[in-house]
Amino acid sequence: MLDVATAMAKIIDESDIDPSPILARKVGIIGFGSQGHAHALNLRDSGVEVRVALHSGSKSVDRAERFGFLVTNAATLAEWADVLVFAVPDVAMKEVFEPLALRTGQTLVFLHGFAIHFGLIVPAENVDVVLVSPAGPGPGLRAEFLAGSGFASLCAVAQDATGSAKEVALAYAKCVGCAKAGVIETTFQEETETDLFGEQAVLCGGLPELIKAGFKTLVEAGYQPEVAYFECLHQVKLITDLIYEGGLTWMRKSISGTAEWGGFTSGPKVIGEQTEAGMKSVLENIRSGEFARQWMAQYEAGSPDLQEMRTDEADLVIEAVGKSLRSRMPFIDEK
Ligand SMILES: NC(=O)c1ccc[n+]([C@@H]2O[C@H](COP(=O)([O-])OP(=O)(O)OC[C@H]3O[C@@H](n4cnc5c(N)ncnc54)[C@H](OP(=O)(O)O)[C@@H]3O)[C@@H](O)[C@H]2O)c1
Repeated sequence: MLDVATAMAKIIDESDIDPSPILARKVGIIGFGSQGHAHALNLRDSGVEVRVALHSGSKSVDRAERFGFLVTNAATLAEWADVLVFAVPDVAMKEVFEPLALRTGQTLVFLHGFAIHFGLIVPAENVDVVLVSPAGPGPGLRAEFLAGSGFASLCAVAQDATGSAKEVALAYAKCVGCAKAGVIETTFQEETETDLFGEQAVLCGGLPELIKAGFKTLVEAGYQPEVAYFECLHQVKLITDLIYEGGLTWMRKSISGTAEWGGFTSGPKVIGEQTEAGMKSVLENIRSGEFARQWMAQYEAGSPDLQEMRTDEADLVIEAVGKSLRSRMPFIDEK
């Protein structure tokens, strides 16, 4: 049994973080996608001087300029910035990073540890290398910032050339709005491996497969697909919202007694030893570096298998049924 008291991570309160190390530095953000746009806007609203870099032909140049940012290329931004943020896809880090001429004492900020942990890029020893990883997607980070709330985040230092890498990382987290619920100190290894595992085993891998299997089971047993859709996909949000708000206990309290009893007794029949063995294998695939090697090879080949998987899933009955049902629910906004 895990001893929770001794296993608790070190969490730094927002009120204990001094924002001045980031307010005193010029921040360059490479990329203006999900994370990049939220970081740029939140930092600027916190009083930080921010510029943005995008690749030639980027679809986001107009958007960044409409928000009033000076948009340049990564090489020019790297000359100007004291702090350089890599808000580009993890698989593109190498091509973005390698041409840059960095100078002693600059801080490189990563939002996920993938490229550093798996050695896709190896920064010189004269720069600081830190991780500030918000616990959620960029649009949510921006919305929470505007609402006066915010996310928690994970922070780590891989290289401390200046002696102030941690202070800069924490100040960055505070000004970007992801220290509101505290900052958990971690390592690039822990953030990378747990983030990939959570995505693959639970959030983006396990859960969609569970939904598809539940839908298929009902439809193959002769039930109407629309009914199966509501029971196995649509209501997932309602249940996960309860879990998000108050954990498993709150979710169990909020559902009917029948659902609670049925969930407790039948859940382990669906998710059991075989699932745990699968999860251990997924974790080992990540820790060994095999997942990173396969994903980089896929990206470098133009992602043919990924495209095929996207098409196959989009063609599933569950997707057609969902599209039709959602057309009757215009209040659900597909952004
Ligand atoms: N999204 C999340 O929920 C989340 C959460 C935590 C951490 N992260 C991390 O945040 C980082 C950025 O992810 P993201 O989700 O913000 O990515 P994203 O939404 O795909 O945005 C990537 C940005 O980089 C640009 N870009 C794409 N390919 C490029 C290339 N080859 N060279 C230069 N620029 C390129 C894109 O240009 P265009 O605008 O032209 O497409 C876009 O502006 C990643 O390390 C990711 O792991 C993401």
